[in-house]
Amino acid sequence: MVEPATPRSSLFDLTGRVAVITGGAGLLGEQHARAIASEGGIPVLVDVSGRGAAEMAERISTEYRVPAWGCRVDITKVDELQGFLAQLLDRFGRLDILINNAANNPRVENGGAVNFSRFEHFPLAQWQADLAVGLTGAFLCSQVLGSEMARRGAGVIVNVASDLALIGPDQRVYRQPGLPPHLQPVKPVSYSAVKAGLLGLTRYLATYWSDRGVRANALCPGGVSNGQPQDFVVRLSELIPLGRMAHVDEYRGAILFLCSDASSYMTGAILAVDGGRTCW
Ligand SMILES: NC(=O)c1ccc[n+]([C@@H]2O[C@H](COP(=O)([O-])OP(=O)(O)OC[C@H]3O[C@@H](n4cnc5c(N)ncnc54)[C@H](O)[C@@H]3O)[C@@H](O)[C@H]2O)c1
Repeated sequence: MVEPATPRSSLFDLTGRVAVITGGAGLLGEQHARAIASEGGIPVLVDVSGRGAAEMAERISTEYRVPAWGCRVDITKVDELQGFLAQLLDRFGRLDILINNAANNPRVENGGAVNFSRFEHFPLAQWQADLAVGLTGAFLCSQVLGSEMARRGAGVIVNVASDLALIGPDQRVYRQPGLPPHLQPVKPVSYSAVKAGLLGLTRYLATYWSDRGVRANALCPGGVSNGQPQDFVVRLSELIPLGRMAHVDEYRGAILFLCSDASSYMTGAILAVDGGRTCW
């Protein structure tokens, strides 16, 4: 097993470690990147929005004085991932961390999904598209990038699942006034299937690479407060023991824990950071 190149000053120190974050241009991708950079790690943000990823990497490089990198990669395409890995190794010579974070996230709470979200009519094409990014994408990234870490004999994979990997959605929180029951929007079935699937992938990778120095764990975040309609926020908050949705930066600690040596004896585990929602 390869030892980290730099002596660690703290359990959470990530100095010099290269961390690929999929969906790096999104809401939480930025937060994961900031967490990595805050401990001296090098975040590499990949996204289908190459411009968003590159701009975010530039901001983080300036703010944290680390050589963050952002580029366009479609994680559903294995050839793009292989090309990306070659570029990454040319650039940094190592890969230490993979955060499988990208997903299709239809915002049903904002009223945009009334016409397609209900189970009886959920389009096959949407199901396939959601699984392609959230689950197949995580499989391909783990295969292409995880294999490089296994070859080196050290690495960490974090799969970003959801509280809805652990419980069924309470569809009452998505209700919109004035709509008959058969037209009420719901959390799409693909979301639950993708997130539960990620837990299976996590346990599989944990045992598969247990003798190759690669750890794999899953993070199950609860909903992040991000300008949702007030009635939705109130209904959801009532389901959460801490009585509120998460602030956008409240997963940074868990990401640092899972990506660093602080979690060195942890693999195949599921970490719920959800304000307590799944405990009652
Ligand atoms: N935001 C929340 O409240 C919340 C709660 C629980 C879990 N999560 C999970 O956290 C993760 C991040 O959520 P978010 O709110 O930042 O979502 P987001 O929609 O803001 O970001 C997702 C990113 O993934 C990218 N993406 C989509 N398809 C891709 C592909 N084929 N290749 C590469 N990138 C692709 C998108 O362009 C987007 O930038 C997701 O897995 C989500 O399910 C989020």
